[in-house]
Amino acid sequence: MCTKFPRRNVLSTLLSASTVLLLGPRQITLAETTGGAFREYIDTFDGYSFIYPKGWIQVKGAGADIFFRDPVLLDVNMSVDISSPSSSTYKTVEDLGPPEKAAEGVLKQYLTEFMSTRLGVRRESNVLSASSKVADDGKLYYEVEVNIKSYASNNELAVMPKDRVQSLEWDRRYLTVLGVENNQLYALRLQTPERLLSEEEGDLRRVMDSFRVNKIQA
Ligand SMILES: *[C@@H]1O[C@H](CO)[C@@H](O)[C@H](O)[C@H]1NC(C)=O
Repeated sequence: MCTKFPRRNVLSTLLSASTVLLLGPRQITLAETTGGAFREYIDTFDGYSFIYPKGWIQVKGAGADIFFRDPVLLDVNMSVDISSPSSSTYKTVEDLGPPEKAAEGVLKQYLTEFMSTRLGVRRESNVLSASSKVADDGKLYYEVEVNIKSYASNNELAVMPKDRVQSLEWDRRYLTVLGVENNQLYALRLQTPERLLSEEEGDLRRVMDSFRVNKIQA
């Protein structure tokens, strides 16, 4: 299974509401949606769009194609990753197998990214849900939800096992939406600490629901 998302640096510009800027083939539109609580982000060059909470800010140089985060809760954030165009031959998200299989790949990818070389670090992970949906664009998307807990010992070199106590470092929820278009695999990735989930969930689900992959105009 190929769920590797090479990092790409892509020019992205924040514009005021409803402005359209043409930069060669790249067109980014930010439009206010009704209610004003969300903004729409449309990348016609890379072929995807979503809405995000209006107050969130863009973080440049975070590695992903696009990265936004809550201005206050830094650990609540989202990004979009795209498989490399040259090596991508995806036809449908079903190329990843059924949702459960894709979820394993997503989890593996996260665990690889968060791999720690520190002594005494242990990760505990669970796929909480894996499902598919057909959005209003008629395309199939997968939604994957995982939890990862990281435990660390502050005294790993202790001789007595009872002194090597591990405590919870962080406990996070990762919400991922996968879609395929333009022969590429797109992943919308949202993350939040579990303790903030109940508060943030409504907004995060709206972002997930809005994610679309779109045909790039030749
Ligand atoms: C995004 O959130 C995660 C935790 O949920 C945090 O570890 C990471 O530093 C955040 N990234 C940025 C760029 O704010």
